[in-house]
Amino acid sequence: MAALKPPTSGSKHPLAVYTICDVRQHNLASSLWLTAHGRVYDVTPFLPLHPGGTRSLLRHAGGDADTDFDFHSDSAQRQWAQYDIGQLGPCEARPKVGRSGCVIM
Ligand code: HEM
Repeated sequence: MAALKPPTSGSKHPLAVYTICDVRQHNLASSLWLTAHGRVYDVTPFLPLHPGGTRSLLRHAGGDADTDFDFHSDSAQRQWAQYDIGQLGPCEARPKVGRSGCVIM
């Protein structure tokens, strides 16, 4: 069965592109991003509201949540779009290396 793709129609910034280096810097409760199926999510405002608790989100802070997206119900998957802030792009799409010096090969 083909993997479900997150809906992007609810994205506030469908064209913004972030690298995994950008995402990794948002790994705290005060700024918590994660990725799923090529999209980037800022779930900071959702942290206290998540029905699955804060720990499940914090565990994936600044990282990948592909399989986690897939196990949510259809209606929960639609909610993800509210926190969609853009697309996950390759690091080489950026002219400069980030301050963290993070380079993904
Ligand atoms: C934007 C991100 C997320 C949204 C909007 C979201 C939303 C929801 C919603 C609405 C539910 C209720 C059950 C359902 O309808 O499926 C739920 C349950 C759950 N979520 Fe998330 N979720 C997000 C991210 C994550 C991540 C990254 C994890 C990582 C493990 C996760 C783990 C869980 C778990 C374990 C439950 C089950 C809770 C239970 O039934 O006891 N969620 N989520």
